[in-house]
Amino acid sequence: MSDTSERTDGAKMIEIGPLADLAPDSARRVDVDGHRLAVIRIGDDVYVIGDECSHADYSLAEGEIDSDDKTIECWKHGSAFSVETGDPTSMPAIKPVAVYTVRVEDGVIHVEVSS
Ligand code: FES
Repeated sequence: MSDTSERTDGAKMIEIGPLADLAPDSARRVDVDGHRLAVIRIGDDVYVIGDECSHADYSLAEGEIDSDDKTIECWKHGSAFSVETGDPTSMPAIKPVAVYTVRVEDGVIHVEVSS
């Protein structure tokens, strides 16, 4: 987290690291500014969703990615979540997880979080 730019509405873009450090079709948990995030790379696209499964407190970043469906599956009970919308696509989870705006600039991933 070497760079932060804050906006007037309190949201800010936070640098979370080089894209090259995240292998294609992999995910990593990152904690920034009180937000627990699952940073997911599918091909060269990066998605950031809330890391905590909406069914129980398990890390989605430890789940398996389906790069065709653009989902990540909670390893505990098998609910899959869309990395684009945060919506669960299978039971038992029924609530969405948060979706964060992400930007890759000059090979560096930035995520927008609120204060
Ligand atoms: S904890 Fe994720 S599906 Fe149950």
